[in-house]
Amino acid sequence: MNYESRGLICKKNFIIDYFFYRSMFLPISTESRETMARILSGIQPSGTLHIANYFAMMKPMIEYQRENELFCFIVNYHAMTSNQDGERLRQNTLEAAMDFLALGLDPDKAHFWVQSDVPEVTELTWILSCHTSLGLLERSHSYKDKVAHGIVPNTGLYTYPVLMAADILLYQAEVVPVGKDQKQHVEITRDIAIRFNNLYSDVFTIPEPRISDDVAVIPGTDGQKMSKSYGNTIDIFEDEKNLKSKVMKIVTDSTPVADPKDPEKCGLFALYRLFAGSEQIEKMRTRYLEGGVGYGEVKKELLGLIIEYFAPFRKKREELSKDKGEIFRILRKGAEKTRQAAAPTLTRVKEVTGLSYAPK
Ligand code: TRP
Repeated sequence: MNYESRGLICKKNFIIDYFFYRSMFLPISTESRETMARILSGIQPSGTLHIANYFAMMKPMIEYQRENELFCFIVNYHAMTSNQDGERLRQNTLEAAMDFLALGLDPDKAHFWVQSDVPEVTELTWILSCHTSLGLLERSHSYKDKVAHGIVPNTGLYTYPVLMAADILLYQAEVVPVGKDQKQHVEITRDIAIRFNNLYSDVFTIPEPRISDDVAVIPGTDGQKMSKSYGNTIDIFEDEKNLKSKVMKIVTDSTPVADPKDPEKCGLFALYRLFAGSEQIEKMRTRYLEGGVGYGEVKKELLGLIIEYFAPFRKKREELSKDKGEIFRILRKGAEKTRQAAAPTLTRVKEVTGLSYAPK
């Protein structure tokens, strides 16, 4: 979509947001749109990714590329607020890029880049930070939580939401899929954009958060929500030996083989249904309800399914890791393409704010 037609979207959003502003009690719509939308989300390069990351975030993102304009990037500047080990940041960034590419992100269809390769974002961050009150940032839950947990905050952690606003507004994103914990950051982005548009002119598209549905919590090997901090993950590219030992250790209750079992209360079944086809799931559900199936057998079947599911991705991942030059080439090209999408917004911002001073 070109910049002129984006301007129309800005106007439309302005009208919508005027009323939104007047009636703050109206809920933000998180419903999916039917038309093609510009969807954007950033991913922290935080090391090894697990299957809950995959099903909750990466898989839906990768699917968006088919029918939408997808902007997907690795947020190494955000990671820097907590990771100040250069080698680790470099390594994690590359790993995250390889993971996405191996899992099917198509750099020809989507915009796919590393955040720091588009310097326009830091320029916009400064400009936005001059239009963001301290009070707005002081209300950030995520900042307050981190401080409450004893983290000594640096300025970057405090202005994290402004950088995130720049990420979103620079590309005129319409929809931002994020987890619940990031919803407030998208709301802060909206506040910043609305204020800026009102002050100068309709420069920014007002983005909508799309909050992933938490109903289907993906359990870890101990039955709690799968999370790196609980040490209960199954990683996407786990080697087969570790995978086997993790699957075999999945915690279950002690119902005897012959007795009926409740599939809805079983973490093992919840994992099984992520990988099995619908017929297999129904069959397994019936076997649970009727009794006669042992957890050991379910685990063996699950192990086979996981191996089969990730096999093509694993193969692609191995090929990619042997050809780092190709990854650098893809990321360089991705950054060039993305800078082109960023340029018109920054030019416009500089015009309306008076930063560009010479006549054209
Ligand atoms: N803060 C987000 C997270 O930790 C990552 C992020 C950075 C992001 N910039 C973004 C997400 C822009 C969506 C849009 O998950």
